[in-house]
Amino acid sequence: MTSRQANRAAPKKHTAMSGMIRSVFVISLIMLSAPAFAEPDVPATRNIPVKNPGFESGNLQGWNERSWLTRRARVVRNPHEGDYALALGPETGRAAQLVPIQPGGIYRLSAVVKTDAGSEEVQLIASEYGGVKASVSSALTQFTKVSLEFESARAADHVLITVAHPAGPGRGYVDEIVLTKIGDTPPPRIEDMALPRSRHILEEGGVAQQPDEVMQWFLDAKFGMFIHWGVYAAMDEGAEWVMHDKAYSPKAYRERAENPESGFTASSYDPDEWAALAKAAGMKYVVLTARHHDGYALFDSHHENSWTSVQHLGRDFIREYVEAVRRAGLQVGLYYSPMSWRYPGYYNVTGRDMKPNVWNYRPEPWHKENARVMKEEAYEQVTRLLSDYGPRAYMFWDGAWLGQTIDPELEDRFWDTGRYQNPDKEWPIGESCVVREDGTGKALGIMGLVRKFQPRMIVNERFSWIGDVHAEEGVSASSGPIRDRQVMEKCLPLMKGGWGFRPDRPVFSFEEVAVYLSDCAIRNINLLLNVSPDRHGRIPDNQRGVLLEMGNWLGRVGDAFFGTRGGPWQPLFGEYGFTWREDKIYCHILPGYEGIASASFTTQSLGGRDVTGVRDLSSNQPLDWIENENGTLTVSGIGYSTDPPVTILELTLAESL
Ligand code: GLC
Repeated sequence: MTSRQANRAAPKKHTAMSGMIRSVFVISLIMLSAPAFAEPDVPATRNIPVKNPGFESGNLQGWNERSWLTRRARVVRNPHEGDYALALGPETGRAAQLVPIQPGGIYRLSAVVKTDAGSEEVQLIASEYGGVKASVSSALTQFTKVSLEFESARAADHVLITVAHPAGPGRGYVDEIVLTKIGDTPPPRIEDMALPRSRHILEEGGVAQQPDEVMQWFLDAKFGMFIHWGVYAAMDEGAEWVMHDKAYSPKAYRERAENPESGFTASSYDPDEWAALAKAAGMKYVVLTARHHDGYALFDSHHENSWTSVQHLGRDFIREYVEAVRRAGLQVGLYYSPMSWRYPGYYNVTGRDMKPNVWNYRPEPWHKENARVMKEEAYEQVTRLLSDYGPRAYMFWDGAWLGQTIDPELEDRFWDTGRYQNPDKEWPIGESCVVREDGTGKALGIMGLVRKFQPRMIVNERFSWIGDVHAEEGVSASSGPIRDRQVMEKCLPLMKGGWGFRPDRPVFSFEEVAVYLSDCAIRNINLLLNVSPDRHGRIPDNQRGVLLEMGNWLGRVGDAFFGTRGGPWQPLFGEYGFTWREDKIYCHILPGYEGIASASFTTQSLGGRDVTGVRDLSSNQPLDWIENENGTLTVSGIGYSTDPPVTILELTLAESL
């Protein structure tokens, strides 16, 4: 039987009055509002309107609503049909459109695409429909139709269509985007419990991912504070990418940053206060940008070309931070960007392949050497961060990509991220920056250094090594199944429109952040929420306010997060999902759940396990429930919360899972 309602014929009822299973009596509830085996209602296939689907407006109209996604996209006269097509690239080119859809449909998305060079590809991607991102690509140089199908969640009201040319010196072309509804999503089936599968421990470059025992604190932590703080906080005209976006030369940027009147002062920097705020918000770890892509280090570095807060303001902010976070009893994390815009060679590490860049640098013979110095500085700084600040829990790498393009083979060759440095040494670093392995005397690569100096530290995957943790970035709600094979973290800026401080920027509300956190936890993903202190080191009041509200809420419902794992059932996008620990199952019920109107909630099948109590976690009110014949449980009389719009029920089982 697949119909949920048809299975509710002979429920067992429990009242919460005594908090235990009491008299079990059978009621013949006739809950069937529809016949159990209704004829399927197959909708006619129909086209969903997409704006400017063939780019015939002659411009990007409709295709840059998500402006930060749009890159190197131009409408050109090279069409498959009509007068125009979209050209993407060279290198990373993208355009995207949000299209309203009806909930719960099966859709087909197609486009006609081609590339300049048959070695590069164009991708068509569907995301944000409540399932895992779907994509299809083609490398053909003739216009070819590509299509994919996706099934939207019942609580999804839009799909994000993205077309992309991920990398390569040529361009990709796109024409005739068509979105068609071809069916209805079948009603959800009743699921049995499935506890998470064990992780896959992978190895790359001679280094294995950390074992479960080391990953445990991270999986338990659920919620962390990301802090983007650097000299860019002083530049109101942009966020942390301002140097790049406004094409500041390294010299002009430095002058701007160090201007005593308008530059970066750090005069109110108080890491104890930041750590106290993170703690008050219920966060368990903190990650501060030790150096972002602009190359300004918040710590001491002795590399001859370094630019640091010690030189500029006489302070090692990372030392103060690490000590404060440790004092607060939180796990210490750092962010570090290996690449730096201070080096033109970053766009031309081979000396013969200049990537497109906003500075209009032209290829020069000295670029390869310049890139080598960038690498050497990164080695000196990474070694110092690893060896000089005591034990640390987490390193968030960001930016091994070269010239902002994705070329894993070149990244590997350039950075030597594995256990050892490559003996061929196309970009050799000076002996004073080399650390050798005891015994073998071999020069350690980045991950060799990490495991030598910080054997229990975990790192993410953005330094051209697989990572112990994978980052899922961005503002779209987490979707798809429970992540159990690899450890995941979603990072999200609390301020809308950037990671580094910008004045008067709106922030996500407490209600929105609470939904993000539940959406993550029910899928086993950590939420790393970013705050943006200003140039003096103050976290703006609107960001602080949201964090305090989160802390207040987590003070009541924290049991449903900390130390739990996603499951024992898969989430249903926008409607509900679960976390569990020992004998407790937490049902996180989201605004799109259909039972909200009837103040009830029905779980998936408990497989015969006995429940001894149900309560609303936030109000601590016991609730009545009924065991249905099909093994599910229906809880009634729920006072659904709108502030935040996540209601969490706690089920206590007679035995641990
Ligand atoms: C991106 C951006 C960077 C930001 C990071 C946070 O990689 O380049 O500015 O620090 O995301 O995850």
